Amino acid sequence: PITVKKICCIGAGYVGGPTCAVIAVKCPNIQVTIVDLNQARIDAWNSDNLPIYEPGLDEVVKSARGKNLFFSTDVDKGILEADLIFVSVNTPTKKSGIGAGFAADLKFLQLATRRIAEVATSSKIVVEKSTVPCRTADAMRTILEANSKPGCHFDILSNPEFLAEGTAIADLFKPDRVLIGSLQTEQGKDACEALKNVYANWVPKEQILTVGLWSSELSKLAANAMLAQRISSVNALSAICEATGANIDEVAYAVGKDTRVGSKFLKASVGFGGSCFQKDILNLVYLSESLHLPEVAKYWRAVVEMNEHQKERFARKVVDTLFNTITGKKIAILGWAFKKDTGDTRESPSITIANHFLTEKARITVYDPQVTQDQIWLDLTNYGDIPADPIKEHLTICQSAEEACANAEAIVVCTEWDEFKQLDWKKIYAKCPRPAFVFDGRLMLNRKELTDIGFQVITIGTGDRV
Ligand code: NAI
Repeated sequence: PITVKKICCIGAGYVGGPTCAVIAVKCPNIQVTIVDLNQARIDAWNSDNLPIYEPGLDEVVKSARGKNLFFSTDVDKGILEADLIFVSVNTPTKKSGIGAGFAADLKFLQLATRRIAEVATSSKIVVEKSTVPCRTADAMRTILEANSKPGCHFDILSNPEFLAEGTAIADLFKPDRVLIGSLQTEQGKDACEALKNVYANWVPKEQILTVGLWSSELSKLAANAMLAQRISSVNALSAICEATGANIDEVAYAVGKDTRVGSKFLKASVGFGGSCFQKDILNLVYLSESLHLPEVAKYWRAVVEMNEHQKERFARKVVDTLFNTITGKKIAILGWAFKKDTGDTRESPSITIANHFLTEKARITVYDPQVTQDQIWLDLTNYGDIPADPIKEHLTICQSAEEACANAEAIVVCTEWDEFKQLDWKKIYAKCPRPAFVFDGRLMLNRKELTDIGFQVITIGTGDRV
């Protein structure tokens, strides 16, 4: 089989950056170059202030950068030199045209593929790392073969990424599994072996699964759909708990003790966010519809609908509890990232909830330990689609949780940042008008402690207001 000596990764985002930085650290004999068209992003990767926040990422990047790990905007040079190319570009939901709102927009992936075909002067293994609809590898192969130079052969592999933001480095160091899909031809299997040998530098061989191309592509969509489905299931149960007085943490604990179900990923919350779950399920919905499987499409669509319902329900509960109006009231939102330990806000429930409060003309304060002020503005103006001026008088972005909570009639916890547990809640209470409400959208705070201080605590999935 081919021995990989030089790797290029196209796309220096949340996946390409951490994934290939870890490959560089674990494979000192392989030169890894991560390329991107976005100059600012590459500059940040080459600086002390990395473009994304992930625990442990700084150390990983610092230990390999300049040795066998390089970040560059010279996409062509990266392609030319590499034996193996990861394509790790964004594949967002299409905004217009056929499949708008559901299908994946593959334009970035196809542009990157075309560039490989145009530039490459020798044979390459091209690895689809982005999450893509089933059979995308086929389209990539057609594009590559139609545009390649004589003597250049391309093998396509599918190698979806299963890392979770917030724990990306730990996940990459010790993955549950690595999945590689290839054509079941001799050449396909050789290419698969080459990539397998890269991972085998730190991943036990039995955890590197090799399957057919289409199984690999579909497995990624399936994994995300099933993870999100667990969240929507537990959130649907949380609504029943609130109506009956049962406690969702107790129910999830009891259910999760069944080894067939398992205890992980059964936490009720304000709803899932992140760039992947919704996008990938909608992708699966579109795929199902294209395959004339409307019932299957409907089943998966309900997972996303339940998530929307949960966010909406939570926001409405805040309004109901504050005596049916929040107009002019000050509400503190703690947490803007879609989960803790990341600065990523894509599809964050905080955005939906803040928009709801703004529509009701509340005055909101926002604090998040990792998200920048600029990002919050981009999210609330939908990247410039919505005018900022009307929002300005209703929004204050704060530098600390205490600042955000001062004089707030309600404190709404949207992200489960550890630091929210350690806040000086007594001090915060002293500065809140009465009754002082805390809405725990993550079931993370010590309810008894807060109640003893004097707060009215409302959590998802519990009926009794203490
Ligand atoms: P991202 O948006 O953070 O990064 C993508 C990067 O690709 C951007 O920096 C963009 O400038 C660059 N790019 C786009 N077209 C390019 C081109 N033609 N040439 C060079 N660079 C180009 O996206 P992210 O989050 O890293 O996701 C990438 C893929 O991985 C997506 O398909 C996503 O579904 C998948 N994925 C994401 C996970 C996550 O946790 N974010 C986890 C697993 C998979």
